[in-house]
Parts: sequence; C-alpha cells; structure tokens
Amino acid sequence: MLVHRASDFEKKARDALKKIQKVEGLGVFYANFLGKKSELNDFLKSLKDLPAEEKRDIAPVIQKIRTELQNDFDAKQAFLRKKELDERLASDWLDVTKEFPIKKGSIHPISRVQRRVEEIFTSMGFEIADGPEVETEWRNFDALNVPSSHPARDMQDTFWVSSRSQDPHENTVLRTHTSSVQIRKMMEYGAPVRIIVPGRVYRNEAVDASHDATFYQVEGLLVDKGISLAHLKGTIQAMLSELFEKEVLVRFRPGYFPFVEPGLEVDFSCLLCNGKGCRVCKHSGWVEFMGAGMVHPNVLRNGGIDPEVYSGFAFGFGLTRLVMMQYGIDDIRLLFSQKKSFLSQF
Ligand code: PHE
Repeated sequence: MLVHRASDFEKKARDALKKIQKVEGLGVFYANFLGKKSELNDFLKSLKDLPAEEKRDIAPVIQKIRTELQNDFDAKQAFLRKKELDERLASDWLDVTKEFPIKKGSIHPISRVQRRVEEIFTSMGFEIADGPEVETEWRNFDALNVPSSHPARDMQDTFWVSSRSQDPHENTVLRTHTSSVQIRKMMEYGAPVRIIVPGRVYRNEAVDASHDATFYQVEGLLVDKGISLAHLKGTIQAMLSELFEKEVLVRFRPGYFPFVEPGLEVDFSCLLCNGKGCRVCKHSGWVEFMGAGMVHPNVLRNGGIDPEVYSGFAFGFGLTRLVMMQYGIDDIRLLFSQKKSFLSQF
C-alpha cells in the first residue's frame, strides 16, 4: 500500500535527517529524499496512475510529508549553517591589535645620516644632485684639473672599468670621488649652482678597520658671484652644529687638491671633549673632516663657467666616517657586514 510505503519513507527520511551533523551531508540527503530522483518524487509521479478516489485520499498525505520534510530540511540546514559559522567565528579569527614579536626593520645608519645631511643642506637652499658611479676618466680627473701625467692622479687608487686608451673621454673608471659630479652639474645648470652630491665612491685600497674599497661621500659645490672661503666656513659650521645639535667649530689648514685653489683640509672641534683633547681626537681637540677649497678657475672653465665673473667653493667629506664618528663605530667593515646584531641597534 502506498500509504505504508509513504510512512516508511517518512520515517527513513527523518532518521536520515537526524543523523546529519554537517552542512556537507545535506546535499546527498536532498538528492535521496526530496530531489527529482528521490523516492518521494516517485510517489508523486505514481499518483497520476491511481484511481481518482484513492488519489484524493493519498495525495494530501504525500504532499504533507513532502512539505514537512522540506521544512525540517530547511530548518536543519539553517541550524547547521549557523552552527558551523559560529564554530568558525570562535576558532578562526584574528586579533588585529595583538603585538607580535616580529622585529621591525630599521634604517641603515648611513641612510639615516645621509637623510639628515640632505635635510640640513636643503634647508640652506642646496639641491641634491646625483651622478653615475661609472664615470669617464675625463670627468673624474682631467676636467677637475688633474693632468694625466701628474702624480696627483695616483693620490686615489683607481678601479679602471675600461682598458686605458689615449682618450680620457673614452676611458671609464669607478668614480674615486663625488667631485666628478661637479663637472656634470656645472655643464647642466651653469652658474649660479648650489648642490650637494651624496654618493658611493670606490678606491682600490687594502681593506682594514678604517678603509673600505667603497664608501660614501658628500660633495658640495656652490658657485655664484662674490663667493669666498668665509661662505664655506659658515656653511660647514652651520651644517655640523645642526647635525650634532651643538655648537661645532671649524678650522682650516692648507691642503692640496688639484681642483681647488687655495685647497684646504677642514677639521671640526672634537665632540667628545669639546676641543680639550681626548683619545678620539688624538689629544689635538680637532677631528679631520674633509677636503675643500675655492673651485680652481680651470675647473670652472671646464664646466662652462666664466671664472672672471663667478667664484665658488667645493668640499667633499666622507659620509661613512661621519656616521662612524656619530655612532662610535670603530670598524668600517661592520657597516656593510649585514650583521643583524649590528644593524638592529639603529
Ligand atoms: N674629492 C676630494 C677627495 O675625495 C675631496 C674634495 C672635494 C676636496 C672638493 C676639495 C674639494 O678627497
């Protein structure tokens, strides 16, 4: 009898529905008990073959089973979905306020000081300029008034990139100083010009605690009408006082660089002992800082500037050495060692 079969079916379906614990299991259940290929659908289809009277009795029973089963199914589905969502919400979440013991990166001390130096010079009206590290022999030496036969060429041990031909415009070197950018910018901007050039330079030197084959320099160049050494002194004194956040004095000694005349060695008063004399300044009260001077007329001319009208000062200091001084780093090799223990201090 159809009615018995229907109620058996209903019981089977309810048992099956009860057993389902996961949303995942609902699909199969639906296919077996409610879907187009289910037994229930077979019942519905077979109704049309029944005599009208019987059909009238049985049809509402089967419809009722179907409706109730569908309702139960919907309820179960809603229940399981909510349960699974609740479970996920309870276990699978992220505390965005939680602090993780992840070490943040830090800014390399060279970059740190370079940025500060750039800020200070920019505030004084200097522009930051740049040039290539592979430079022509001409810009690195000849244009800076260093004749090829002159022993001054050997002052800086050079890495040659090209083999050395007769033509200094053809030959390339790893720039031995940022002074090579002086010529580039004079040619590009003409006068007046007021730039600093932070950058990496290369020298073919034996490496030890205070020498590396690459290091950083900051070049300065100011060309205008009526520029004198007093402007150089004031500029450097102001820059260092700003950088070290205390009054720093600057002194000049005569020095030789082919691209400046007069040429100077510039020292500043020792920060540690305030000029009284200590181990750091070798008891002199002064720390050697940089080379500088008034731009040589030949250099101005090579840069396309008339030395009868314009004068200028230039300087070049070792950024790497400045960083070492500021942070009390006593071995230059640490700076590029990539040692985390060293770098994470900054
Ligand atoms: N280029 C020089 C050096 O590397 C420094 C310097 C720059 C000296 C400008 C005078 C003028 O030693």
